[in-house]
Amino acid sequence: VAPPLLLQPLRIRGLRLAWRALQAPLAGYSDRAFRLMCWRYGRPGLLATEMISARAAVEGTRRQEEYMALHPEEGPVQFQLWGTEPDALAEAARICADRGAAAIDLNCGCPVRKVTASGAGVALMRDPPLLGRCVAALRRATDLPVSAKIRLGPEREGWNGAAVARLVEDAGADLLTVHGRHGRERYATPVRVEAVAAIAEAVSLPVIGNGDVRDAASAQALVRRAGVDGVMIGRGCMGDPWVFDRLRAELSGEAWEPPSLAERGRVLLENFRLLIMDMGEDRAVRHVRKLACYYSRGLPGARSFRLSLNRCGTAEAFEESVRTHFHGAAAPGSAGA
Ligand SMILES: Cc1cc2nc3c(=O)[nH]c(=O)nc-3n(C[C@H](O)[C@H](O)[C@H](O)COP(=O)(O)O)c2cc1C
Repeated sequence: VAPPLLLQPLRIRGLRLAWRALQAPLAGYSDRAFRLMCWRYGRPGLLATEMISARAAVEGTRRQEEYMALHPEEGPVQFQLWGTEPDALAEAARICADRGAAAIDLNCGCPVRKVTASGAGVALMRDPPLLGRCVAALRRATDLPVSAKIRLGPEREGWNGAAVARLVEDAGADLLTVHGRHGRERYATPVRVEAVAAIAEAVSLPVIGNGDVRDAASAQALVRRAGVDGVMIGRGCMGDPWVFDRLRAELSGEAWEPPSLAERGRVLLENFRLLIMDMGEDRAVRHVRKLACYYSRGLPGARSFRLSLNRCGTAEAFEESVRTHFHGAAAPGSAGA
């Protein structure tokens, strides 16, 4: 029997994804330390950067350089650009290609005001012709796979996702990702699978479905009900770099052993040390306090751990707290052994 669709490779232009579960771009999270953890412990079909400002990338700001820096060990990475100027996007795509991008994605879904105020992110869906010109500019600039990540529509009403998807396809994109919410919706609203299906139906390029996927049941339901060619996981990776490994095992019908608390603590510390190397101790400590909350989901004593994070001002204090809460929790039964 054929393996489940999600376990089959997907070819997008010159790029072959080993399987069809992708890591989503997560601004403020999907830095290279985060991606490396996802890769080491889950090997998703494709990784994604944080969103990179096309204009700032062209100007060569230090922050965008950081976003574009790859780790030699990580798997294929999609670089996500945001912006509204076709020329800047094209130039930024060439820079991304230079930095080792495996694919280029255009952000057409970000609802944050700082981004939409300039007409970018999900605001691009209000100007489909411009969105199409942006994709076409990326297409002309690079031979790498080009994609767009859209929502159902920019506003509460009058969703134009299917029309935008057709424009994206006509502009020469190789892949489309659809996040099944509109631009005004927050994550508490369940993803609208039928609306994703209508968009997938409207185009013939491969479509990746996104929203609320956390395990094999939710992934397969999205594939079956929306008719998409793969899935992308966002929040499910936060604090859980094993999510892809678990998904692969579930899809293959294999048993899967969850990491012990001690292992989770160890990986959190591994992630933290990479962050220190990339951003220095002060920024790393501030950042890891957010990240550690996700790693502590389901941890006995999670509350006490989260409270302790407020008092962690140094790398040493943070590491000590992780050792106490994660390793201590793993100890019962082994005490004295
Ligand atoms: C903290 C955070 C940051 C995000 N940043 C981006 C981003 O930079 N670009 C983007 O296209 N989507 C971004 N998203 C949206 C996710 O990529 C994804 O579409 C969304 O979380 C739904 O998938 P999920 O239900 O698996 O989390 C972000 C989401 C979160 C929670």
